[in-house]
Amino acid sequence: MDTQKTVLIVDADRTERELVCETLAGKGLRLVATGNMYQAFYHIEHLKVDILIAQLKARRIDGLALLEAAIQHHPDVGVIFITEPNILETDIGIRAMLTYKDTYFLPKPVNPVHLAALLHRTLETQRLAFENRQLQSQIDENEGLRRLTGKSPEITRIREMIAQIAPTKATIMIYGARGTGKELVARAIHHRSLRHGPLIAFNCATLNENLAESELFGHERGAFSGAYHQRKGRFELAHGGTLFLDEISQLSLSNQARLLRVLEEREFERVGGDKTIQVDVRIVCATNHDLEDASKKREFLPDLYDRLNVVPIHLPTLQERIEDIPLLVKDFLEEFCQQNSKAPINLSPEAIRTLMKYEWPGNVRELKNCIEGIVVMSTQSIIQQIDLPERILKATGTAFSNLPSIPDVWEPVAAEKQHLNVEVGMSLDEINREALRATLESVDNNKAKAAEILKVSRRTIQRKTKEYGLCEDQDS
Ligand SMILES: Nc1ncnc2c1ncn2[C@@H]1O[C@H](COP(=O)(O)OP(=O)(O)OP(=O)(O)O)[C@@H](O)[C@H]1O
Ligand SMILES: [Mg+2]
Repeated sequence: MDTQKTVLIVDADRTERELVCETLAGKGLRLVATGNMYQAFYHIEHLKVDILIAQLKARRIDGLALLEAAIQHHPDVGVIFITEPNILETDIGIRAMLTYKDTYFLPKPVNPVHLAALLHRTLETQRLAFENRQLQSQIDENEGLRRLTGKSPEITRIREMIAQIAPTKATIMIYGARGTGKELVARAIHHRSLRHGPLIAFNCATLNENLAESELFGHERGAFSGAYHQRKGRFELAHGGTLFLDEISQLSLSNQARLLRVLEEREFERVGGDKTIQVDVRIVCATNHDLEDASKKREFLPDLYDRLNVVPIHLPTLQERIEDIPLLVKDFLEEFCQQNSKAPINLSPEAIRTLMKYEWPGNVRELKNCIEGIVVMSTQSIIQQIDLPERILKATGTAFSNLPSIPDVWEPVAAEKQHLNVEVGMSLDEINREALRATLESVDNNKAKAAEILKVSRRTIQRKTKEYGLCEDQDS
């Protein structure tokens, strides 16, 4: 492997350029120097540039455009700008600082000692960033491989499906409401696929049609105004790996047509280019819309729908798998306690049961955020029902009621079947009274359990029991 670092020096002032080269000579670096913007772009596109040393603004040099191209082609590039002394207070200086965090400034006239020190610091920052990335990719791998929490039949089925389809090249379409774990599943598929290339994600909802096109397929220099340099699209970047197209239903019809062509031919051209690029990319898509319906209404190309819908995965809502809530809560509690350096925290059975009653319109994400909030705010090791967010207490009808006594381990109420004495001709009130009587009898007059079965609050049970003159002597 070539470990020699390449430094690209772009300076229209020949004397200054030579001074920089002399200062850096003999340090084991490969030095490439030019005073010409076009040559500079050429080097950025064709060499592996580790460090860019350039004038930020000179008569024929546009440092910001170089910076943009350098980041695009070499995400870890170290940047040193040679500037007028007061440049940091100007617009262009501020823009340079905002564009890229690892940018250093060297005031004119160039002082060789300062330059050598800045170069050393830049190389050090780069080394740390590299190590960081390696660690991050290990974390991502664990996250991707980490089993999706849950043991409900729905999530077990999904886990089995992932294991089965991940090693294949099949296109996957993940359907699910917001926060159900679509992205998590896409990552798990990629990590289990053992594809050597990266996972590249693209959210089809975030950009307008033209930008989305150039983001996906890339563009050549001069393809449109502002296209100063060639840019690779997500398809190219995902070569050998997986392209995750999130919110696919939001892709414009013309981009859908382009996508269809790429999927069928496995090749494409960048915007404004005629060179055909071949790619080996596995596609995983996600949506929370009914694509079949959209394709019937011609809002989504039917041919593309057929092409993408090869293996559909439907993620359940949290409500469809409430038995997974205690497990998810346990995992999230551990995660956030660790993240916030807190001693382990648990939820009381009543609190867990309340969480199981809540509808969770935002699904797992909402649950996760809720647990994070609880952990951050908690001062005790056991969270009681009353400590839960008020909106959850209100929505589950537990906001102001007295807490019922709950068994230590939550288990679904298994009520004994009781005979209902209901017949035509009875008033609705009489039928309600009979339903309440039979339910209370089936659960030994435990009002908390009766409330759960009849899906009303415990207060309503208390009020109705009184109103109908039922078992006033019992209060469980
Ligand atoms: N089964 C699961 N086990 C553990 N964590 C999960 C599970 N499902 C989802 N999560 C977590 O919930 C959060 C939301 O998941 P994700 O972003 O994958 O959902 P999404 O369906 O892509 O949401 P959206 O539609 O809003 O983009 C993430 O933090 C994810 O780690
Ligand atoms: Mg998502």
